[in-house]
Amino acid sequence: MNSLNDLFSLRGHVGIVTGASSGLGVECAHALALAGADVALAARRGDRLGPLAAELEQAYGVRVIGVQTDITADADLDRLVVTCTAKLGLPDILVNNAGISPTGRAESLPRATWDDALATNLTAPMMLAQRVARGLIEAKKPGRIINMSSIYGILASSIYRLSAYTASKAGLANLTRQLAVEWAQYGILVNAIAPGWIPTEATEGGMAKPQNRERMERSTPLGRLGLPSEIRGAVIYLASPASSYVTGTILSIDGGYASW
Ligand SMILES: NC(=O)c1ccc[n+]([C@@H]2O[C@H](COP(=O)([O-])OP(=O)(O)OC[C@H]3O[C@@H](n4cnc5c(N)ncnc54)[C@H](OP(=O)(O)O)[C@@H]3O)[C@@H](O)[C@H]2O)c1
Repeated sequence: MNSLNDLFSLRGHVGIVTGASSGLGVECAHALALAGADVALAARRGDRLGPLAAELEQAYGVRVIGVQTDITADADLDRLVVTCTAKLGLPDILVNNAGISPTGRAESLPRATWDDALATNLTAPMMLAQRVARGLIEAKKPGRIINMSSIYGILASSIYRLSAYTASKAGLANLTRQLAVEWAQYGILVNAIAPGWIPTEATEGGMAKPQNRERMERSTPLGRLGLPSEIRGAVIYLASPASSYVTGTILSIDGGYASW
């Protein structure tokens, strides 16, 4: 490891990013491509994936494909992995980024809302991680899995009523530790990122309310919201040789929010 490139290059690797049609998923895709990985982009809004794929190929000289995917459908997950393997090669980096954050009072939260949040935020990342890990174990290749948890996988929210979200993200955080322990023997390192407040399609509505935004900024030691692009460094780090002795960790990218 004598050069910056040795530490952080992902050249020769193949990544899958879920939720690549907007927000942090777009940034995760930029991160992998910037470091030299070929990337498969997944989301339900397939029309958004082609333009991003073209942009990344042009900017970074890597191969990028879009695969329209509903991560809650097992058949779609199978197709995603098969298509990625056929067109780019066996995926050895998975960024389980897609997620939803429904709100509602805990005492009256509809069963369907709870089920949707768990299916998208917890079950789907597990089902996709299984598929990627099986391919790697069979091929005797190491790999990286990065799960997008949240500060609300660590803490409760005083701003929004987020019972299904907090439960699913806490589940994802501890699933990260369990998979890290089980798959360490195969060289598959499993970590999570816990972002704080970052404006995206999912969050900008609430952040547009001055009283919410002011509370978010005041409760963040750095005194501001994050930028979506501030997620990139963590993704490259956790996917690259630089983190070769890191597994089962939850890396907060939150301006210090979870520290006090
Ligand atoms: N922004 C923040 O402040 C923040 C903080 C903590 C954690 N996070 C986490 O970061 C991740 C990204 O969130 P974001 O803020 O970037 O929100 P976003 O802009 O709404 O993006 C969510 C992404 O998830 C995808 N998605 C949702 N359901 C899906 C499904 N069934 N199948 C496939 N893709 C699906 C969406 O794509 P389609 O609709 O096209 O399918 C979209 O690309 C989420 O896991 C979120 O919980 C965000």
